[in-house]
Amino acid sequence: MVASTTELVTRSPEETEAVGERLGRALGPGDVVALTGDLGAGKTCFIRGLARGLDVRQPVSSPTFVLVNQYAGRLPVYHLDAYRTGSLTEVLDLGFDEYVSGDGVTMIEWADTLRPLIPADAVWVHIAGLGDEPRTISIARPDAPYLTGDVDSPRERG
Ligand SMILES: Nc1ncnc2c1ncn2[C@@H]1O[C@H](COP(=O)(O)OP(=O)(O)OP(=O)(O)O)[C@@H](O)[C@H]1O
Ligand SMILES: [Mg+2]
Repeated sequence: MVASTTELVTRSPEETEAVGERLGRALGPGDVVALTGDLGAGKTCFIRGLARGLDVRQPVSSPTFVLVNQYAGRLPVYHLDAYRTGSLTEVLDLGFDEYVSGDGVTMIEWADTLRPLIPADAVWVHIAGLGDEPRTISIARPDAPYLTGDVDSPRERG
Protein backbone atom coordinates (compact mmCIF):
# COMPACT_ATOMS: atom_id res chain seq x y z
CA MET A 1 0.00 0.00 0.00
CA VAL A 2 1.26 3.46 -0.85
CA ALA A 3 1.76 5.58 2.23
CA SER A 4 2.66 9.20 2.60
CA THR A 5 4.15 10.82 5.64
CA THR A 6 3.63 14.35 6.84
CA GLU A 7 6.05 15.72 9.41
CA LEU A 8 5.59 18.88 11.38
CA VAL A 9 6.88 20.55 14.50
CA THR A 10 4.80 21.92 17.38
CA ARG A 11 6.02 24.15 20.18
CA SER A 12 3.18 23.86 22.70
CA PRO A 13 0.49 21.41 23.79
CA GLU A 14 -2.05 23.72 22.14
CA GLU A 15 -0.29 23.38 18.80
CA THR A 16 -0.16 19.61 19.14
CA GLU A 17 -3.85 19.57 19.93
CA ALA A 18 -4.55 21.77 16.92
CA VAL A 19 -2.78 19.32 14.62
CA GLY A 20 -4.84 16.52 16.16
CA GLU A 21 -8.03 18.49 15.67
CA ARG A 22 -7.28 18.92 12.01
CA LEU A 23 -6.73 15.22 11.54
CA GLY A 24 -9.85 14.51 13.60
CA ARG A 25 -11.97 16.59 11.26
CA ALA A 26 -10.80 14.49 8.34
CA LEU A 27 -11.65 11.14 9.97
CA GLY A 28 -14.62 9.02 9.07
CA PRO A 29 -16.38 5.81 10.15
CA GLY A 30 -14.04 2.91 10.78
CA ASP A 31 -10.86 4.95 10.86
CA VAL A 32 -8.07 3.92 13.21
CA VAL A 33 -5.34 6.23 14.50
CA ALA A 34 -2.34 4.41 15.98
CA LEU A 35 -0.11 6.58 18.17
CA THR A 36 3.46 5.98 19.24
CA GLY A 37 5.96 8.01 21.22
CA ASP A 38 7.63 7.91 24.63
CA LEU A 39 6.01 8.58 28.01
CA GLY A 40 4.96 12.21 28.04
CA ALA A 41 5.53 12.78 24.33
CA GLY A 42 2.01 14.09 23.84
CA LYS A 43 -0.13 11.20 22.63
CA THR A 44 -3.03 12.04 24.92
CA CYS A 45 -2.65 15.71 24.05
CA PHE A 46 -2.92 14.86 20.34
CA ILE A 47 -5.95 12.66 21.03
CA ARG A 48 -7.67 15.59 22.79
CA GLY A 49 -7.36 17.38 19.48
CA LEU A 50 -8.59 14.37 17.51
CA ALA A 51 -11.62 14.18 19.78
CA ARG A 52 -12.35 17.87 19.33
CA GLY A 53 -12.14 17.43 15.58
CA LEU A 54 -14.76 14.72 15.96
CA ASP A 55 -17.01 17.05 17.99
CA VAL A 56 -16.50 15.22 21.28
CA ARG A 57 -17.37 17.52 24.20
CA GLN A 58 -16.53 15.19 27.07
CA PRO A 59 -13.14 15.51 28.79
CA VAL A 60 -10.49 13.25 27.32
CA SER A 61 -7.95 11.48 29.49
CA SER A 62 -5.95 8.28 29.25
CA PRO A 63 -8.03 5.21 30.01
CA THR A 64 -5.46 4.01 32.53
CA PHE A 65 -7.63 1.66 34.52
CA VAL A 66 -10.27 0.67 32.05
CA LEU A 67 -8.07 0.29 28.93
CA VAL A 68 -10.71 1.90 26.78
CA ASN A 69 -12.68 5.13 27.07
CA GLN A 70 -15.66 5.79 24.89
CA TYR A 71 -16.77 9.25 23.82
CA ALA A 72 -19.70 10.45 21.77
CA GLY A 73 -18.84 12.80 18.95
CA ARG A 74 -20.16 13.00 15.42
CA LEU A 75 -19.06 9.36 15.46
CA PRO A 76 -18.48 6.98 18.38
CA VAL A 77 -14.90 7.40 19.54
CA TYR A 78 -12.86 4.67 21.26
CA HIS A 79 -9.70 5.68 23.09
CA LEU A 80 -7.39 2.82 24.01
CA ASP A 81 -4.12 2.91 25.89
CA ALA A 82 -2.04 -0.22 25.50
CA TYR A 83 0.66 0.84 27.96
CA ARG A 84 -0.31 -1.63 30.63
CA THR A 85 -1.62 -4.26 28.32
CA GLY A 86 -0.40 -7.70 29.19
CA SER A 87 -1.08 -9.51 25.96
CA LEU A 88 -2.74 -9.27 22.58
CA THR A 89 -5.33 -11.74 23.84
CA GLU A 90 -6.31 -9.34 26.58
CA VAL A 91 -6.92 -6.65 23.98
CA LEU A 92 -8.88 -8.99 21.75
CA ASP A 93 -11.01 -10.00 24.75
CA LEU A 94 -11.79 -6.32 25.19
CA GLY A 95 -13.57 -6.39 21.86
CA PHE A 96 -10.77 -4.82 19.85
CA ASP A 97 -11.94 -6.22 16.52
CA GLU A 98 -15.41 -4.80 17.03
CA TYR A 99 -13.97 -1.35 17.70
CA VAL A 100 -11.74 -1.25 14.66
CA SER A 101 -14.25 -2.83 12.30
CA GLY A 102 -17.22 -0.78 13.46
CA ASP A 103 -18.45 2.64 12.40
CA GLY A 104 -16.61 4.54 15.10
CA VAL A 105 -13.10 5.97 15.21
CA THR A 106 -10.50 4.11 17.25
CA MET A 107 -7.44 5.87 18.70
CA ILE A 108 -4.72 3.82 20.31
CA GLU A 109 -1.88 5.04 22.53
CA TRP A 110 1.23 2.81 22.56
CA ALA A 111 -0.02 1.20 19.37
CA ASP A 112 3.40 -0.30 18.63
CA THR A 113 2.74 -2.89 21.33
CA LEU A 114 -0.38 -3.99 19.40
CA ARG A 115 1.17 -3.84 15.95
CA PRO A 116 -0.10 -7.27 14.81
CA LEU A 117 -3.67 -6.19 15.54
CA ILE A 118 -3.61 -2.79 13.85
CA PRO A 119 -5.46 -2.68 10.52
CA ALA A 120 -3.30 -2.06 7.46
CA ASP A 121 -5.13 1.14 6.61
CA ALA A 122 -4.58 2.77 10.01
CA VAL A 123 -3.10 6.26 10.26
CA TRP A 124 0.14 6.09 12.27
CA VAL A 125 1.12 9.11 14.33
CA HIS A 126 4.54 9.25 15.96
CA ILE A 127 5.46 12.03 18.38
CA ALA A 128 9.11 12.68 19.22
CA GLY A 129 10.35 15.11 21.87
CA LEU A 130 9.89 15.38 25.62
CA GLY A 131 9.49 17.96 28.35
CA ASP A 132 9.75 21.50 27.04
CA GLU A 133 11.24 20.43 23.73
CA PRO A 134 9.38 21.02 20.50
CA ARG A 135 7.59 17.92 19.24
CA THR A 136 8.10 16.42 15.83
CA ILE A 137 4.87 14.78 14.76
CA SER A 138 4.95 12.31 11.90
CA ILE A 139 1.64 11.31 10.39
CA ALA A 140 1.85 8.31 8.08
CA ARG A 141 -1.28 7.44 6.27
CA PRO A 142 -2.20 5.03 3.55
CA ASP A 143 -2.98 6.55 0.21
CA ALA A 144 -6.40 7.85 1.15
CA PRO A 145 -8.13 11.21 0.86
CA TYR A 146 -7.09 12.40 4.30
CA LEU A 147 -5.82 15.83 5.13
CA THR A 148 -5.62 17.34 1.72
CA GLY A 149 -2.39 19.12 2.39
CA ASP A 150 -3.27 21.80 4.90
CA VAL A 151 -2.12 19.86 7.95
CA ASP A 152 1.39 20.56 6.75
CA SER A 153 1.26 24.13 7.89
CA PRO A 154 -0.60 24.24 11.20
CA ARG A 155 0.79 27.57 12.24
CA GLU A 156 -0.31 29.47 9.16
CA ARG A 157 -3.76 29.81 10.58
CA GLY A 158 -2.83 30.54 14.16
N1 LIG B 1 4.64 20.66 21.89
C1 LIG B 1 4.04 19.90 22.81
N2 LIG B 1 3.11 19.01 22.44
C2 LIG B 1 2.51 18.20 23.35
N3 LIG B 1 2.76 18.20 24.67
C3 LIG B 1 3.67 19.08 25.10
C4 LIG B 1 4.34 19.95 24.21
N4 LIG B 1 5.20 20.70 24.95
C5 LIG B 1 5.06 20.29 26.22
N5 LIG B 1 4.12 19.33 26.34
C6 LIG B 1 3.73 18.66 27.59
O1 LIG B 1 4.04 17.27 27.45
C7 LIG B 1 3.07 16.49 28.15
C8 LIG B 1 2.44 15.50 27.20
O2 LIG B 1 1.64 14.65 27.97
P1 LIG B 1 0.66 13.55 27.38
O3 LIG B 1 -0.08 13.00 28.53
O4 LIG B 1 -0.11 14.07 26.23
O5 LIG B 1 1.75 12.49 26.84
P2 LIG B 1 1.51 10.97 26.48
O6 LIG B 1 2.37 10.68 25.29
O7 LIG B 1 0.07 10.67 26.36
O8 LIG B 1 2.12 10.24 27.76
P3 LIG B 1 1.82 8.74 28.32
O9 LIG B 1 2.74 7.83 27.57
O10 LIG B 1 2.14 8.83 29.75
O11 LIG B 1 0.38 8.43 28.05
C9 LIG B 1 2.06 17.46 28.74
O12 LIG B 1 2.43 17.71 30.07
C10 LIG B 1 2.23 18.70 27.88
O13 LIG B 1 1.90 19.88 28.55
MG1 LIG C 1 -1.17 9.32 27.32
